[in-house]
Amino acid sequence: MCPFKSLQVAERTIDLNRWRARPWAAKIAGLQAAALTVILAIVFAAPARAEDGKRGPVSQQGIEAKLGYCKDCHGPSAQGYRGYFPIPRLAGQQPQYLENQLRAFIEHRRTNNIMFNVAHALNPAMIAGLAENFRRLNPPPIGGGPRGLVAKGKNIFENGVPDANIAACAACHGPDATGTGEIPRLAGQLYPYVIKELTNWGKERGQNPAQPDTSAIMSPVAHSLSKPQIEAVAAFVSDLR
Ligand code: HEC
Ligand code: HEC
Repeated sequence: MCPFKSLQVAERTIDLNRWRARPWAAKIAGLQAAALTVILAIVFAAPARAEDGKRGPVSQQGIEAKLGYCKDCHGPSAQGYRGYFPIPRLAGQQPQYLENQLRAFIEHRRTNNIMFNVAHALNPAMIAGLAENFRRLNPPPIGGGPRGLVAKGKNIFENGVPDANIAACAACHGPDATGTGEIPRLAGQLYPYVIKELTNWGKERGQNPAQPDTSAIMSPVAHSLSKPQIEAVAAFVSDLR
C-alpha cells in the first residue's frame, strides 16, 4: 500500500543509529520512544513508486488461483511449513509488509532463489491482491519451539536487553507481536524460520546497496542478539496466537 522512497528510509536509518549512540541513562524508555518515532515515520512516509497501475485489473478468480499456488508451499491455511527449508507463516501477516517483501525479492533487496522465481512473475496488482488475502487467515500456530525458553524469550520481547543496547521487540512489533504496516507480525511465526532470519539478517536482507530499505531498521537488533537470545525470543513468538 505504501512503498516509500529509499532516501527517506536511509534518513530514518541514520536517525536510528544516532539514537543508539546516545548515553543509555534513559535506556528502555528512550529506546521505546525512538522505536515509536520510527513506526510513525514508516506509517506516515509518503507513497512513492508503484502506485500507478497497482490497482489495475486483476480478477478475484485470478487471485484465488494464485493463492492456491502459494499454499502449496506455505500450507493450506498459510500457517507455514516445517520442512528442510522452513517456509514462513503468511497467515495474519500485515499486507504492507507482505507487499514490501515480495518487491524486495524481485528487486534483489532480499535474496532467496525460490521466492525470486515466485515473485518476479507477479504484477503489482496481483501482489496487492494476494497480500490482502492472507490477513484474514488465522490458523493456530504450528508451535514446536522449546517450552523451556519461552519465559526468557518473553522477557527479551517485552524489555529488550538494555546491557546490549537491544530494543524491546514489543516497541516496534507491538505488545501482541501482530505488527503494523511495514513491521511484520511475529506471532505464530515458525521457530526455525525466525532463527534463520535473525541469524542471517545481514546476508539476506538489504542486499541491494542502490536501494536501502526497511531492513536497516531491524539490522542493529538482529546483529546484537546472541544465539541463545535468538532461540529464546523465537520460541516465545512462535507460540503466540
Ligand atoms: C516453492 C515453494 C514456495 C512457493 C510456491 C511460494 N513460496 Fe513464498 N516462500 C518460500 C520460502 C522457502 C520462503 C522463505 C524465504 C527465505 O528464507 O527468505 C518464502 C517466503 C515468502 C515471503 C516472506 C515472508 C516473511 O515473513 O518475510 C513471502 C511474503 C512469500 N513467501 C509470499 C509468497 C506468495 C504470495 C506466494 C504465492 C504467489 C508464495 N510465497 C509461494 C517458498 C514458497
Ligand atoms: C526499531 C523497530 C524494531 C525493533 C525494536 C525490532 N524490530 Fe524486528 N523488524 C522491524 C522491521 C521494520 C522489520 C521489517 C524488516 C524488513 O523490511 O526487512 C522487522 C523484521 C523482523 C523479523 C523478520 C520477520 C519475517 O517474517 O521475516 C524478525 C524475525 C524480527 N523483526 C524480530 C525481532 C525481534 C526478536 C526483536 C526484539 C529482539 C525485534 N524484531 C525488534 C523493526 C523492529
